[in-house]
Amino acid sequence: MLDKIQQLLNEVNSLTAASADDVEALRIRYLSKKGEVNQLMADFRTVPAEMKKEIGMRINELKTRATERIAELRDAVATKETAADDVDLTRTPYPIALGTRHPLTIVRNEIVDIFSRLGFTLAEGPEVEDDWHVYSSMNFADDHPARDMQDTFFVEAHPDIILRSHTSSVQARTMERQQPPIRVICPGRVYRNEAISARAHCFFHQVEGLYVDRDVSFKDLKQVLLLFAQEMFGKDTRIRLRPSYFPFTEPSAEMDISCNICGGTGCSFCKHTGWVEILGCGMVDPAVLEANGIDSSVYRGYAFGMGVERITNLKYQVKDLRMFSENDVRFLEEFTAAH
Ligand code: DAH
Repeated sequence: MLDKIQQLLNEVNSLTAASADDVEALRIRYLSKKGEVNQLMADFRTVPAEMKKEIGMRINELKTRATERIAELRDAVATKETAADDVDLTRTPYPIALGTRHPLTIVRNEIVDIFSRLGFTLAEGPEVEDDWHVYSSMNFADDHPARDMQDTFFVEAHPDIILRSHTSSVQARTMERQQPPIRVICPGRVYRNEAISARAHCFFHQVEGLYVDRDVSFKDLKQVLLLFAQEMFGKDTRIRLRPSYFPFTEPSAEMDISCNICGGTGCSFCKHTGWVEILGCGMVDPAVLEANGIDSSVYRGYAFGMGVERITNLKYQVKDLRMFSENDVRFLEEFTAAH
């Protein structure tokens, strides 16, 4: 009898099954009422008394092992079958989890789109720049405060390699590559060493515009900016230009639009003035043309630069600048329908 038990134990250990039906057949063969184990139990009565203990233990051992092995096989077959069943290649992948465009991307694309309809093409430049393209070629004096440590991030304490603090550097990159006519729009990220708060961040986005040709005048600039403002904020939008100063333009101006949140009647966003500043602009300083290899006795140009966050705030009233870079999905999902 001990031999028989051992033989069954060996069999049980090497059982295999390819389907749930196979497993059920094995269960019947070993563990059912008329199965091998119960058969042994029936024969147990004839076992001499002095052998009962050992044989009883061996039969129990076989029963446990057979139960375990069959359960293992049942699990293995079940996982295999479910895995195969679950892949329904004809099923619609619904609901489709679509990503959303970032609000800054939506607005950047809209700005680029408006200017491309006016014949501007896209130009880009590096975010890690050198002093020449960011400052010197743009007519910043050596001791101009914007070069100060407070504003500019330096790369590895190298005085010449910096993170660009404005996209005006792409003006220089474009002019050194290309003679007029030049008509480019340059979107990109810029960096300034500012404490992060709801109203300031150490990086933000700008769109720069540059137009250089013969006979370009301030009225061309004004007309293009009016058209941009009305395309961006609606046909009733008014603009106003206030004299200002930038090293790279002469004359320079800052442009306000009639506040599109209150319609110009005054609200907290426009500080009750009815106007909001959206960009800086001016006629390219001849010194900038010359520094970049363009003959200023033949050519003239205008340029402008605007903050994408500012324009996005006007369109969508995002109150805290930090929202733009925190990637909170609840915030981003609010723009699902925007584009
Ligand atoms: N670079 C300026 C800034 O970061 C913005 C600007 C002003 C750009 C006037 C221009 C411009 O091209 O003409 O504040």
